[in-house]
Amino acid sequence: MEEFFGANNYIISNRKIAESCPSNIALIKYWGKYENQIPANPSISYTLNHCKTNTEIEFIADDQFSVTTFLAGKSEVKFAEKIEKYFQNIEQYLPWILKGKYIIRTENTFPHSSGIASSASGFGAIAKCLMSLDAAFSGKINDEFSLKKASFLARLGSGSACRSLYKGLVVWGETKEVSGSSDFFAVRYPNEEIHADFRNFNDWVLLIHEGEKSVSSTVGHGLMNTNPYAERRFQEAHENFASLKTILKNGDMKSFIMMVEHEALTLHAMMMMSEPAFILMKTGTLAVINKIWEFRKNTHLPLFFTLDAGANVHLLFPTTKDEEKIQAFIIKELMPHTQNNGVVKDVMQF
Ligand code: PMV
Repeated sequence: MEEFFGANNYIISNRKIAESCPSNIALIKYWGKYENQIPANPSISYTLNHCKTNTEIEFIADDQFSVTTFLAGKSEVKFAEKIEKYFQNIEQYLPWILKGKYIIRTENTFPHSSGIASSASGFGAIAKCLMSLDAAFSGKINDEFSLKKASFLARLGSGSACRSLYKGLVVWGETKEVSGSSDFFAVRYPNEEIHADFRNFNDWVLLIHEGEKSVSSTVGHGLMNTNPYAERRFQEAHENFASLKTILKNGDMKSFIMMVEHEALTLHAMMMMSEPAFILMKTGTLAVINKIWEFRKNTHLPLFFTLDAGANVHLLFPTTKDEEKIQAFIIKELMPHTQNNGVVKDVMQF
């Protein structure tokens, strides 16, 4: 990836910059990877609007490299260690990066316990900050290439983070279905290939279980290395891309719903078939899924779900005239399955 190697003529100085980056929710899931955060299959996600990480980086030019981090005003030593390692790891792409002290202040606009991918928005925001510093030190302007490099750098922090740099539907991982797609950075799915019905969606996250995830995504990806069904799964993700392309173009909501739910259940099935096995759903997750299916059967309204590697349920439904009926159902029938009446409301609009 020669294009991402840094230039040599930097003039570094003390700087303070701030950037913001949203989280994203995958429709075709990334689950399984090779060395250097190369995904085992292509994935596609919606970038959220409200669930964001705001990050401020204070850079003090110095021979001694160090990182101090504050999460919502609270000092976070473990996070600082993680960022230190990450900066060391990407030095080859940003030659100035170890030549200073960093004070990083970061906060999420969504609850930490929600299971919404804060690593995606977090590394997205840090990568954007780094590219702003890079522009300041090199005198180059922050352009389309900077965004691509930010996506490349975010990927090295947390794979799915690379998709958060772009709005709308975003693809990461090489697939013949999307021109320009790459294993190294994300690209926007072309807007003109997306039917209007798929451009305005609600994503309400039901907080079924608020707490630490029982399995980290690092462990989860690792389990795919020995999962006997892994190769078939990776192949299926490629096949699903081909189908999704037609679905998105034609506005085929029914097939879209089938695919998105199938992808979520496949991710969880993979975890159940791993060694050791993990069941990431809770009783409430299953209850909600069954109620959604019953609701769809009875009303034919487009309410459906996706899941991350946890128990919380992302409820997806278009922002159409029927959304009030769907919202009323969610509040009456699904909310009782949350732990503390918790729901995070977001929307995808582009
Ligand atoms: O980026 P990671 O390593 O946290 O992996 C996230 C994987 C899923 O969120 C479960 C799926 C995805 O594609 O975002």
